[in-house]
Amino acid sequence: MEAAEKEEISVEDEAVDKKIFKDCSKIAFYRRQKQQLSKKSTYRALLDTVATGKDSTSFQIINEATKIPLKAEVYGLEGNIFRLKINEEAPLKPRYEVPDVLTSTPSTIRLVSSSEDTNNLVLTDRKGDLKFHITADPFKVDLVSEDVVMSINSVGQLYFEHLQIPPKQRTTKENEDDASVDPSQQENQDDMGLWKEKFRNFVDIKTNGPASIGLDFSLHGFEHLYGIPQHAESHQLKNTGDGDAYRLYNLDVYGYKIHNKMGIYGSVPYLLAHKLGRTLGIFWLNASETLVEVNTEPPVELFIPFLPHYTLTQMGLGDAQRKVRSRTDVHWMSESGVIDVFLLTGPTPFDVFKQYSYLTGTQAMPPLFSLGYHQCRWNYEDEQDVRAVDAGFDKHDIPYDVMWLDIEHTKGKRYFTWDKKRFPNPRRMQEMLRSKKRKLVVISDPHIKVDPNYSVYAKAKEQGFFVKNHEGGDFEGICWPGLSSYLDFTNPKVREWYSGLFAFPVYQGSTDILFIWNDMNEPSVFRGPELTMQKNAIHHGNWEHRELHNIYGFYQQMATAEGLIKRSKGRERPFVLTRSFFAGSQKYGAVWTGDNTSDWSYLKISIPMLLTLSITGISFCGADVGGFIGNPEAELLVRWYQAGAYQPFFRGHATKKTKRREPWLFGKRHTQLIREAIRERYALLPYWYSLFYHAHVAAEPIMRPLWVEFPNDLETFSMEDEYMLGSALLVHPVTEPKATMVDVFLPGSDEVWYDSKTFAHWEGARSVKIPVALDTIPVFQRGGSVVPVKTTTGKSTGWMTNSPYGLRVALSSKGSAVGDLYLDDGHSFQYFHQKQFLHRKFSFCSGVLINSNSLNGKDQLVAFTYSAETSTLSLEKLSLNITANWEVHIK
Ligand code: NOJ
Repeated sequence: MEAAEKEEISVEDEAVDKKIFKDCSKIAFYRRQKQQLSKKSTYRALLDTVATGKDSTSFQIINEATKIPLKAEVYGLEGNIFRLKINEEAPLKPRYEVPDVLTSTPSTIRLVSSSEDTNNLVLTDRKGDLKFHITADPFKVDLVSEDVVMSINSVGQLYFEHLQIPPKQRTTKENEDDASVDPSQQENQDDMGLWKEKFRNFVDIKTNGPASIGLDFSLHGFEHLYGIPQHAESHQLKNTGDGDAYRLYNLDVYGYKIHNKMGIYGSVPYLLAHKLGRTLGIFWLNASETLVEVNTEPPVELFIPFLPHYTLTQMGLGDAQRKVRSRTDVHWMSESGVIDVFLLTGPTPFDVFKQYSYLTGTQAMPPLFSLGYHQCRWNYEDEQDVRAVDAGFDKHDIPYDVMWLDIEHTKGKRYFTWDKKRFPNPRRMQEMLRSKKRKLVVISDPHIKVDPNYSVYAKAKEQGFFVKNHEGGDFEGICWPGLSSYLDFTNPKVREWYSGLFAFPVYQGSTDILFIWNDMNEPSVFRGPELTMQKNAIHHGNWEHRELHNIYGFYQQMATAEGLIKRSKGRERPFVLTRSFFAGSQKYGAVWTGDNTSDWSYLKISIPMLLTLSITGISFCGADVGGFIGNPEAELLVRWYQAGAYQPFFRGHATKKTKRREPWLFGKRHTQLIREAIRERYALLPYWYSLFYHAHVAAEPIMRPLWVEFPNDLETFSMEDEYMLGSALLVHPVTEPKATMVDVFLPGSDEVWYDSKTFAHWEGARSVKIPVALDTIPVFQRGGSVVPVKTTTGKSTGWMTNSPYGLRVALSSKGSAVGDLYLDDGHSFQYFHQKQFLHRKFSFCSGVLINSNSLNGKDQLVAFTYSAETSTLSLEKLSLNITANWEVHIK
């Protein structure tokens, strides 16, 4: 057994052991903040220091106990966004501010200030309908839009540890003069983890000492919060009790536990809050370890009928909420960096999605093939295996687009190389796939085997491209190849160099059908603290790993996507899957939910996990179909394919030592069911592709929680066992074994819903019991929608270019329907540079189906079938050009 293999086994065994990961009580900055905040020190804004700059308004805030001044800056940003930054007025050295996430410097709008008195400053945008109301003493901010919708620091949890001179370098006088250093903390230094923090056998030496920050937000009238992935948790955020918080700290958690708030592979420090009439977003731009506490105050009946409107407003109550006041407090804490928070004011869910996209970008437009089905396994052993699996799909008439190779395809886990015994001729293998109009994805991890004879290692070493350890040498840790160093992707030069490794002449054996999978990029370090990198490792610019841990994987995917674009001379769209991610990762490709387990509960939780990613900008997401760890029984596998077919990234994957589970290995009946699910995915590709277009240009999530489409329908706010795909399809995957019935909620009192198989229909705002057999995927089309489909499927997306389109028209209660279709070459950037695409709009009204609106040409009679039983009319073989203007009249 190879050394690396031994390691891998011990990691698997260890990883399920929760003790290797911290809970809040083991996190020193959490303990410090809790202790200090219980002492209630207050902050005061010094409004006589207000200065109006070109882009922002700034003023000082002072801590009443320590007298240390902080500098606050308020920006108004285009699109109804406020930005609040708080830093030390004069830090000992610069504090880390997250670069490269904001798409460009967001354009600012001038805020007008009106000082009502010495204790109040009100900043408004020119329209004046949003007010940023600063109260000086104690410092607090109210965000007012008619009513107070959000308050900041109203609970008094603003917390800022200023940088200090290390105790050993201090003179006695310096110690005496500095009132900010709490003697009780200094005494218990070890316990409070100020300069040194112990966890298991690991000691984190903190050169910069304590530097944590925190702030509270009270959301008035809000009880429903969502976001802050990634957790294996429900879609709606839960209250965090004592000693509990949502943790944002990217970690490699093999077989993560579900219904748990511990951090897993990625972090998006962004949450949304929704209530009737308003959706809000809070984006906390910080890449260090972060904890979020959520606490909803139960609604209280208020008997205050005669209070004037103004008083109600002051209490955060609108007219509609006079009797019931609910509030959710959110408390953010980060280990270091600065407070840099964006308030997205909505008011609708789609406004908030747009606002967030102004800051971090939208989902990259994927190449069409990547919306097909992907077949992965750790590992497909060799070229023969690849050929056999590929042939299996054809033999069983199952479409698939992409074959995947895991780490064993390389020479001893040296990425960018091939194991020549297993894959003697990688180009030949890719030509075989190309002839089937299919693609290959191979893995490329951030750890690089320490081996002077491995050119990637040697070149990176020579140029100083690895993350450094605390002592100044190259950081070394254990991962799949054994001893490894880690590329410092935070360095633009490293990204530039790394992206060059994908050039065809450099990456031997690669062709233009080869795409990339970035894994283990939290980063995963097998013997490191919590299986990751020491926080005092050093990155480009002399920044500690602690400052930017959560953004490491983001940078690898960025560099990889740039590499794939560059190798095609800027012509082709990349496809890169990443396990670790941060806010903005949507610009670089797809994300999956890591090492899940073959169990019904993991199938079920894949839905809320993907919904959460989707509303935080990451539309192209999926979960390993079948569950990565363990052996799914046939029924679970079928149900997982049926669910996966309706999730954006659709890939079957399984770990080593699991039984083979290609779709045809479970008997004829199950093969048939999986085939049907995958074919339905392919039939819907025109709809999927159009949804990706909308995600790309307008930041509209693809998988949508019901509350997003039905924001006025209270019943939908907590739903997570069903969702909308775009605005037209409602999907309720079966996630229970031996199910014979599912309860489906069909929202919207004005809606009508059609079962997409039986065409049975119901009016909305009701729950219906839908009988299910193993071949049932409960999918409902919303009345009023037109869904474009392909009427025949092929071996892969590449075989379907010329297969006919169909339109599934479901009429609203008023007898009309609308929909659209986006179409381009499916792989290049011509849609962007040359505007080479088609965007057709369909509408059906008064018996006429229109594709576009200007027409000339001849009338033609066509054959049809009509079913009175289901009220469905089918028009086939119309021979109409989908790209042309036409009308179909039904008389
Ligand atoms: C961990 C990933 O999550 C998994 O999908 C992959 O198969 C293994 N690493 C091996 O590369």
